[in-house]
Amino acid sequence: TDRYAVIGNPISHSQSPFIHSEFASATGQALQYEKLFADIGKFDEVVSAFVAAGGRGLNVTLPFKGDAFRFAQEVSECARLSEAVNTLSFRDGKIYGDNTDGVGLVRDIVDNLDVAITGKRVLLLGAGGAVRGVLPTLLAEKPATLTIANRTVVKAEALAAQFASLGQIEATGYEALAGRQFDIVINGTSTSLQGELPPMPAGIFAAGALAYDMVYSRGLTPFLRRAQGEQAGMLADGLGMLVEQAAESFRIWRDVQPETRKVTNMLREVLA
Ligand code: ATR
Repeated sequence: TDRYAVIGNPISHSQSPFIHSEFASATGQALQYEKLFADIGKFDEVVSAFVAAGGRGLNVTLPFKGDAFRFAQEVSECARLSEAVNTLSFRDGKIYGDNTDGVGLVRDIVDNLDVAITGKRVLLLGAGGAVRGVLPTLLAEKPATLTIANRTVVKAEALAAQFASLGQIEATGYEALAGRQFDIVINGTSTSLQGELPPMPAGIFAAGALAYDMVYSRGLTPFLRRAQGEQAGMLADGLGMLVEQAAESFRIWRDVQPETRKVTNMLREVLA
């Protein structure tokens, strides 16, 4: 059987084996999918051993997406732009790198939540790896405006400059958002992981806006709770994105497009 795995540190709580096993049985693909732990600094070693043992592909999670980008011999346009790889494929003696996070986010918003990005005022909170990874794909949807707000403003400015050729990006701090409104607000900071709220001023959600947290959690994150108390019309966490990015990796590896909705619903129950 073809072997796949997700590599990360930590890795014990990863839902990827569950997701890919469901995809495999639903599409009739024979494959094995496991968890792979690597010590920091040991990424290349662990991956090389996996390849030598016949591994066909890897999903890459924190903190190794940059390592995977360097490890790949050929990368997709999306991975090149985001300087991060979350999907490695080993075929014909070569190592291919891709980044499916952006596709995952856009599919969840556009297809699952049925919210168009095109023509909307989009606000991204954060300027770290999570935001960088989804920027090219978000810009390709042609929002009316794309604003990146970050605590450390220079990081938002650097991202805006780096991606300028793909579309106009406005970089700002949080205070400057006061009095402005957005149709889609995406939390790409790590605040939810710490149970914190990004320091955003009140009133940034346009009536009926979509509030999207890239982190998934059992209850509402502080960001989603704030959005619920304001004018946001729709709240979503990153579970749909997790399943969609996995589906895109599965498609790259197996050339089959798996259905996602049932798997997302099952995961939601498992996590409840
Ligand atoms: P990731 O790869 O998950 O994006 P990261 O590169 O460390 O992780 O980035 C974390 C992001 O969350 C950054 O945008 C960070 O803001 P700074 O660049 O100013 O550090 C943001 N962040 C983390 N904790 C935050 C907090 N308490 N308030 C506001 N922003 C926060």
